[in-house]
Amino acid sequence: MSKLIVQNNGPLCGEVIISGAKNAVLPLMAATLLSAETCKIDDVPALKDVTVMRDMLISFGAKIEWNGNGEIVVNVENIETTNGDYELVKKMRASFLVMGPLLARCGRAYMPLPGGCAIGKRPIDLHLKGFKALGAEVTEGDFFVEAKAGPEGLIGDTIYLDFPSVGATENIMMAAVLAKGTTYIENAAEEPEIVDLANFLNKMGARIKGAGTDTIKIEGVEKLKGVEHTVIPDRIETGTFMLAAAITRGEVLIKNIVPDHVKPIIAKLKECGVDVELVDEGLYVDARDRELTATNIKTLPYPGFPTDIQSPFMAFLTTVKGNSEVRETVFENRFMHVNELNRMGANIKTKDRTAYVPGDSILEGSEVVATDLRAGAAMVLAGLHAEGITEVTQIYHIERGYENFVDKFRKIGATIIKVED
Ligand code: UD1
Repeated sequence: MSKLIVQNNGPLCGEVIISGAKNAVLPLMAATLLSAETCKIDDVPALKDVTVMRDMLISFGAKIEWNGNGEIVVNVENIETTNGDYELVKKMRASFLVMGPLLARCGRAYMPLPGGCAIGKRPIDLHLKGFKALGAEVTEGDFFVEAKAGPEGLIGDTIYLDFPSVGATENIMMAAVLAKGTTYIENAAEEPEIVDLANFLNKMGARIKGAGTDTIKIEGVEKLKGVEHTVIPDRIETGTFMLAAAITRGEVLIKNIVPDHVKPIIAKLKECGVDVELVDEGLYVDARDRELTATNIKTLPYPGFPTDIQSPFMAFLTTVKGNSEVRETVFENRFMHVNELNRMGANIKTKDRTAYVPGDSILEGSEVVATDLRAGAAMVLAGLHAEGITEVTQIYHIERGYENFVDKFRKIGATIIKVED
């Protein structure tokens, strides 16, 4: 199995350019199914997950040009099947995002049940609640779900989400853009990726208002046209590099960022004593020569602290002075990195959804597992601080979501080597 060998090489120092956001580009690609015209998306990161979504679109009949670098051009003039391919769906949970667009454009969608990160149950009940509210007949089997619109197509309605799920908001929004009448999504997710998707859909001719607030209004239109769009920068990658500077007590200038998208991460790093400044070229993070102290974290839907940065932040908190508490409220089982950090000497205890993180840990290089995408990043960060050599396995998780991960870290002075299988 491929692995990363990570070694402490002192403070990281230099500049890093953030890629387009994985979590934005996947729904945008799914949305291309809504139009028969050509869509161009720029700043597309070269990631495994993007490859899976590309293959997924091709399986429905899309013609795609993408050389793995920047722009992707998608044309879905004809949809040849409305059945999701199990081999692709099981590789990535976000592939379920094609269900809304297929249902909207073709009146039917069939999907095998999704896989993805092992961080709790990750049900799809809210997606289905939305489709049902729009008048679709939904059949759930043990290993599949099928949705069919009535003879009139989908009809707009008001949908209250019991939790502001990102995926459900996106899927329902994409289903509703071609529905008859007006749809309201209440208690909608407010993440920047939702706003990016709404902007994309509006450029295609959709009529969406309120994205980025808790109520989204979608007036259905008959048809959507082609679009050109640049993906927003990846706020989770931004946070990961902010923490790379912090955990190695280095200084890094992070370019191609939207400061508002990383507000809670900036606030929490500042509470710990890290200097974070917005400069002309980006975000300047300086953790050199200062005593860093503990803080408490509680993950929440946006604009709260992002669950995707919980594990990298926890790795950092093991290295500061004092004890911290980390509370995970978004996912029910997102502490799998705790065992791995403890293997390195962290001594973190968990009770229910709270982790108690002692500071001043002397981390020691060990063999650890990237238990999910973000946990993988956390292990690399811990390895950059630890004494000795850390070997991170199951790195396919990391490659799903971080573009040029090793190269970007090496450029700012990290000692990381990828050993191929
Ligand atoms: C997206 C992100 C992921 C991030 C998460 C939360 C993508 C591709 N992935 O995942 O990186 O960690 O948002 O910010 O954008 N839930 C239900 N029923 C549903 C749907 C969700 O109960 O039908 C629950 C989930 O179990 C979870 C919570 O809602 O506890 C949040 O999930 P959701 O916001 O849907 O996350 P994803 O869209 O899967």
